[in-house]
Amino acid sequence: MQKPIFIIGYMGSGKSRLAKVLSESLNCSHHDLDDLISQTYGNTIEEIFNSEGEISFRKMENKQLRLLNVNFGVVSMGGGTPCFYDNMNWMNSNGVTIYLRAKIPTLVKYLSKEDGVTRPLLRGVQKKDLPEFIAKHLFERQYFYEQASISCNIETLGWEDGLVQKITNLN
Ligand code: S3P
Repeated sequence: MQKPIFIIGYMGSGKSRLAKVLSESLNCSHHDLDDLISQTYGNTIEEIFNSEGEISFRKMENKQLRLLNVNFGVVSMGGGTPCFYDNMNWMNSNGVTIYLRAKIPTLVKYLSKEDGVTRPLLRGVQKKDLPEFIAKHLFERQYFYEQASISCNIETLGWEDGLVQKITNLN
């Protein structure tokens, strides 16, 4: 398959982990869009949010997406990447998109383990409010996520095996 694979999904759904596993199985490179943004701008995502704000971050994210080499490789996106500008259309036109769908309790479980430092959008959200926050946020984002070429439920997927099989079948 001569197309890149773009992995999308809510924060904490395991996008980076899947990118790594897939790239090993497919013997190709893997990248993370947030890491590429950090390298380009010489700042962590948190620092960018703090100093420039979310709107500037979304502009950088949109620009970085279009700088991706659209040859073969696996790229994990930020949770919000598909939901701004025409990013989702761009990804669908230039590669195969995989949505890692997760249930709210699963996301709450993963995200409440974190200290909130690395995910600026969750800063200030108390753990007790996390289920409601995620439910609303996911509701807003679902429209974009559901446009993916392939969707996988992370709770039921025989995880890596099932997914790797699906992807390799696309070859
Ligand atoms: C964001 C998710 C983050 C990062 C930024 C914004 C979002 O990436 O891009 O903090 O809007 O959901 P992860 O999904 O890897 O946490």
